[in-house]
Amino acid sequence: MTARLLDGKVMARLIRDEVATEATELLARGVKPGLAVVLLGEDPASQVYVRSKGNACQEAGMHSETIRLPAETTEAELLAVIDRLNADPQIHGMLVQLPLPRAINSDAVLRRIDPAKDVDGFHPVNVGKLVIGDPTAFKPATPYGVQEMLIRSGIDTKGMHAVIVGRSNIVGRPMANLLIQDGPGGNATVTVCHSRSRDLPSITRLADLLIVAIGRPNFVTADMVKPGAVVIDVGINRVDDAAAPKGYRIVGDVEFGPVSEVASAITPVPGGVGQMTIALLLKNTLQAARQASGGAAG
Ligand code: GUN
Repeated sequence: MTARLLDGKVMARLIRDEVATEATELLARGVKPGLAVVLLGEDPASQVYVRSKGNACQEAGMHSETIRLPAETTEAELLAVIDRLNADPQIHGMLVQLPLPRAINSDAVLRRIDPAKDVDGFHPVNVGKLVIGDPTAFKPATPYGVQEMLIRSGIDTKGMHAVIVGRSNIVGRPMANLLIQDGPGGNATVTVCHSRSRDLPSITRLADLLIVAIGRPNFVTADMVKPGAVVIDVGINRVDDAAAPKGYRIVGDVEFGPVSEVASAITPVPGGVGQMTIALLLKNTLQAARQASGGAAG
């Protein structure tokens, strides 16, 4: 079997165009959605993500602010920046790019963001709302992107056994919560695996839908996949490659070639889930602007 390719580029383009149209409508009612992105330090991957977020925002006709701070910024200084953004009426959504330098308590930082502006959906208020299925929750952009990809590809998750590899607060846990909700892209039976799971391949082989987010290059091999499964690769790993122009190339958590011979559908890396994340972040910013101006969720 050769798997169908789930093209994140095409789907993300569609969503970004939809968001731009809705942002124009909101602007006509006097509201320009605004997103602030805060970056500490010089991590090369984070710099690329943050630049892409800012550019995508402007392309969608939204107000965008990128606040770059030195790696030595103290926690108190960062909290003061968040307080300022919390109070800024031009900013409807904000995020602090992770990971943060070790000297900073990430939990304290995420809790300082006004839940109404927390477009990453990492504040405990939004985590709780997501768990109970409150539609005003901000869904974390990466798992939200995976769910949208499945819906828009016509893959019905109802009754599927979804196995998630990875239990991070950014992907694995919110992914599980989205997939067990009642509604489109939900109604799945969910298993969450992690580094302490015993005999992982015996679990992943049960998956109708296998979602991998553990940050280890080519971790999932063809023998770990049930024939006909849908495989979603959330990994973005840099591996050294002397032959590549930059000296490295990007690979996922799934060994793409062999697994695509077993799966019925698969996401490529790059060009898969990564493309969706920014599109859904924009959608969340739109949702934040709507909710702040008294409109409905969504
Ligand atoms: N680092 C990796 N993914 C994310 C994300 O979705 N949001 C933030 N803020 N940082 C990240």
